[in-house]
Amino acid sequence: MAIKRSNQDNIPPDRPAKKKRQNQSNPSQAENILLATAALDETDNNEETIRPQRLDDYIGQKDLKEILKVAISAAKTRGEALDHLLLYGPPGLGKTTMSLILAAEMGVSCKITAAPALERQRDISGLLVALKPGDILFIDEIHRLNRITEELLYPAMEDYRLDVTIGKGQSTKIRSIPLPPFTLIGATTKIGALTSPLRDRFGLIQRLRFYETDELTLIVLRTAQILNAAITEAGAQEIARRARGTPRIANRLLRRVRDYMQVKKIATIDEELASKALDVLNVDSRGLDWTDRLVLNTIIEQFHGGPVGLEAVAAATGEDSKTIEEVYEPYLLQIGYINRTSRGRVATEAAYKHLGLTG
Ligand code: ADE
Repeated sequence: MAIKRSNQDNIPPDRPAKKKRQNQSNPSQAENILLATAALDETDNNEETIRPQRLDDYIGQKDLKEILKVAISAAKTRGEALDHLLLYGPPGLGKTTMSLILAAEMGVSCKITAAPALERQRDISGLLVALKPGDILFIDEIHRLNRITEELLYPAMEDYRLDVTIGKGQSTKIRSIPLPPFTLIGATTKIGALTSPLRDRFGLIQRLRFYETDELTLIVLRTAQILNAAITEAGAQEIARRARGTPRIANRLLRRVRDYMQVKKIATIDEELASKALDVLNVDSRGLDWTDRLVLNTIIEQFHGGPVGLEAVAAATGEDSKTIEEVYEPYLLQIGYINRTSRGRVATEAAYKHLGLTG
């Protein structure tokens, strides 16, 4: 879908109604982060130093990178903003990182927010009117937008126009404010929860997939270098194998293994050390933690292996059903330990085997 350009700026019809990106200084990622309007789901202040800064430093997601390279090059050639982009997939796979990289590649700023922070009309309006030509607005958890905010986004995305409601009751008026061409990047773990009018306004809809072990090994090696932690390739591989296909988890495990290494006064993270440290952390050979195993054990032991509904699993484990669905289930499905059927979740033969149980 091509972005429709508005003619808000009284550009004569014989000239294309496009705004060239203004000559902006290229903000660093640190500056972009400072522009963030909501706290990100990152507690580790090292996070920003280990994020890759450019597309070429980004490991994995090969197909997505190719698609984005084309989009970047085309937008740059035309002097336009990138098409609106919807990124979906499980948490921790690099949706925010990719948005910051896109901003760096385009030489624009990236403002970061999350749908729960956009409660009132003025929350989204404030962000939109502050955008400069070509800027990226990143909205995390976009499936959680309220109706008012979502409806403000429709003309903003389609026509670069903000329709604000002024006054109440009978004296209500709509004022249209022109916006510069910008790019909305929406991120979600639940694409099915988006309304179709919103989904349809994205020119690119891309899924981030779980990473292969060799990709995660490269990520761990790269992060270890940034953190100045000596590590062998086999050590990195051991961490990668237990990282549930997720860079955020791989980097988190690396930090914990590094702590263990320091406390034990060992100079290098090798396979044996990584394995010992991760055992202590209760992260098993497939990367399952205590809660993953609780979910599997509950399905197997309390519900005879299923099928069982999500709510019943949540009640029996004491975990929030959304957390099970969005955080735990995707990986258990990916490695084939559970199946989702029309009658509920079923534990597979592989899950029984992994837990040392018989079906
Ligand atoms: N750190 C986190 N995710 C990464 C990725 N995909 N490539 C390189 N480093 C990363």
